[in-house]
Amino acid sequence: MSGTFFKQSVKPVEPHNKKNSDPAALSAKIDLLLAEMTLEEKAALCSGKDVWHTKSLGRLGIPDLFMADGPHGVRKQDRECDNFGLSDSVPATCFPTASALACSWNRGLMHEIGVALGEECLQEGVDLLLGPGINMKRSPLCGRNFEYFSEDPYLTAELAIPLINGLQTRGPGACLKHFAVNNQEKYRMTVSAQVDERALNEIYLSAFERTIMASGPRAVMTSYNRINGVYAGESIDLISNTLRKRWNYNGLVVTDWGAVNDRVAGIMAGSDLEMPSSGKANDPLLIRAAKENPAVSVAMDDSIRRILTLAFKSRQNRVPGYRCSTQEHHALARKAAAESIVLLKNDASLLPLPENAKIALIGQFAKYPRYQGAGSSLVHPTQLESLYHFARENRKDRVSYADGYPLDSDQIDPELVSEAKTAAAMADIAIIVAGLPESYESEGFDRTHLNLPPNHDHLIREVAAVNKKTVVVLQNGAPVEMPWICDIPVVVENYLSGQAGGSALWEILTGRVSPSGKLAESFPLRLCDTPSYNTFPMGPEQVDYREGIFIGYRHYEKAGLPVLFPFGHGLSYTTFEYGAISADPPRIDFERHKFYQLSISVKNTGAFPGMETVQLYVHNPFGEVIRPEKELRGFNKVFLLPGEKKELHFSLDQSAFSFYSTTTHQWNPGPGLCDILLGSSSADIRIAFPLEIIISDPIVKPDGNPESVNNNKAAHDNLTKSVQNDITKSVQEDFAKKENKNFHANSTMGECRQNVFFRFLYFCVLQYLKKRSRENPRQFDMMRAVLEDLPIKRLVIMSNGIIRFRHIDAFVFWMNKERYHALKTLLGISRKS
Ligand code: BGC
Repeated sequence: MSGTFFKQSVKPVEPHNKKNSDPAALSAKIDLLLAEMTLEEKAALCSGKDVWHTKSLGRLGIPDLFMADGPHGVRKQDRECDNFGLSDSVPATCFPTASALACSWNRGLMHEIGVALGEECLQEGVDLLLGPGINMKRSPLCGRNFEYFSEDPYLTAELAIPLINGLQTRGPGACLKHFAVNNQEKYRMTVSAQVDERALNEIYLSAFERTIMASGPRAVMTSYNRINGVYAGESIDLISNTLRKRWNYNGLVVTDWGAVNDRVAGIMAGSDLEMPSSGKANDPLLIRAAKENPAVSVAMDDSIRRILTLAFKSRQNRVPGYRCSTQEHHALARKAAAESIVLLKNDASLLPLPENAKIALIGQFAKYPRYQGAGSSLVHPTQLESLYHFARENRKDRVSYADGYPLDSDQIDPELVSEAKTAAAMADIAIIVAGLPESYESEGFDRTHLNLPPNHDHLIREVAAVNKKTVVVLQNGAPVEMPWICDIPVVVENYLSGQAGGSALWEILTGRVSPSGKLAESFPLRLCDTPSYNTFPMGPEQVDYREGIFIGYRHYEKAGLPVLFPFGHGLSYTTFEYGAISADPPRIDFERHKFYQLSISVKNTGAFPGMETVQLYVHNPFGEVIRPEKELRGFNKVFLLPGEKKELHFSLDQSAFSFYSTTTHQWNPGPGLCDILLGSSSADIRIAFPLEIIISDPIVKPDGNPESVNNNKAAHDNLTKSVQNDITKSVQEDFAKKENKNFHANSTMGECRQNVFFRFLYFCVLQYLKKRSRENPRQFDMMRAVLEDLPIKRLVIMSNGIIRFRHIDAFVFWMNKERYHALKTLLGISRKS
């Protein structure tokens, strides 16, 4: 593997139909079609036909569009359909999930995976893959973090861009999600993320901005939540002003599944397509609004233009009969898994495993790996490997095995522990495969702590007591606390490494491949050290992003808090020497030069071939605003044979030095002296040198502006401490609101359960879900969590229009003790709302 980026293994795709791929011709054709459509047809086209298709219109030759979930594999359902991973899907390559892939820090690899995903979409006739997801990891507790890349927007974008580009070179499109500020699963359908302008732009939107500008995903999916009070899918600020005007995006905007709150407001904001079908529930609302207000009619036409443009283009991109190589994709999944594994600790170079060592393999995850997440991203893998299989196949008589813990419970099983200890005591090295069971992390709910299951922690301690040479391999989608870390010499972070994770792990453990993964997120020592400890999660009404821009390493470094493992950390079996720097002169005026360029030589000074990722951070102490200690602004991964040396090049543009100014509402580099830091992790900086940024017209901040905080630790502490009072206040307000018992259409099923009807409905739906998730009771927990937080208004969409808005209004009246209005509304005599 070389460090060459954007390596492509291009297979020819049928050329597009020249006539139709001419944008002007397609646009003229769509204008003609719009002129032919009735208002009813237009309203209908603005929502899906079923769970995965848009509507076709045979009369006018308008094709449908077929979507399937991603992000780390194609989840095409061809029989029963759902968007929670309950029903099966056709076999597809299950790549490592995003939190694992991000540790590869390899743009070229991401491009290859994008290409493979595109090929599988092509094979399955999927026009749009719902992924990647690029939300920021505000807290390690978010149940869906396994689907997201990082706590850093730059790294996130740099990995998402090649993935999307790769996928789209094959014809099918990517749908970037979840736009935006969707950082907790609890209350995701009701909560308002209260985030300040600077954090919004600098942290939560900037990965979207960079990715959208550089890769042009065919679609963007708006998130369920509200941002500063407004639903993402109805936000003129987010969709019209930011996405479309500021970032020039003219692709499709689709709602998350069942996210529509007010369809007319959505259309007016530029939310083109409602998914999935809502059984025509919203059509009459759109028709009435369009008749009353010509602006709605214009907005609908714009949306239909974007839906049809994508539908026609996607049709041209299809290649009937196309087949891709499942074996090649499996091999790619293995390569990706191996590059994503992070060697966190390797005392006394215990790894790689010596050739003749007797090994005790312990833990059921070694046989039945935890290799992907749960929820809408669930992939039906084409095959599944286990570490156990490869260890036994390669070192039969030297590998013993013990279960260690039960798979379906957190309870300590003394018999299993005792078997494990016996095996460990008789071996040279014990390898424990532990981690988080599926019930711990999933779409639909968040974790409440960072612990491993108690029986995993217990096993690790007991085994380490009988064998000092104990290796812990962790299979989890997000960080965990490691209370036993001082007693364990080796820790390998495997993450959720996809269908080929078994052989990849074996290759790493035995040294066939030297580990090269680097953490894409910080591992905190304790949950209480995390930046949003007091405000995660909050809801159902609002969650306060009091930590501002200080998430991940930006927080730990500013607050001076030690971490378990820092952002960017990852060991290798070999060693690298950072050599001479050659750089442009140490002053730059970005008015006159586009880039500041530098290069560094890196040499493999050890005995193993290996890969190093050189990370470039900028420390920019521009005095007028509080800035992080450092921010990642570049990275470069390189493969080196022992003794080999290569030059790595970096080009930094103005954005590398900028912060988002709430005075100018723009990115601003700020003048002054900053430092360029080059290192092997955020905590292992090998080279630092100053650079002066010259700006002819610096922006002066008026006093009292939130940016005028002194740039030091005290300021950071004040910022986070002052928060506590406000938080307590807003939580109390939340409770007070609940006490008032004022129900509304967005009250959740959980809140409405005190009403006998909803209790009954809740019970019936639960029974149905129990039946549907028969084969996997853990899916049931997820569905229960989703149901608990479901706003009752969404029952209209979820029931595909069987429940009407009128029914919801009537129930709200009823629950608020306005019985007379309730009956009238139910009977359709009047609608008071
Ligand atoms: C998830 C999306 C997913 C969609 C379709 C939603 O519940 O949030 O990420 O793409 O379902 O399955």
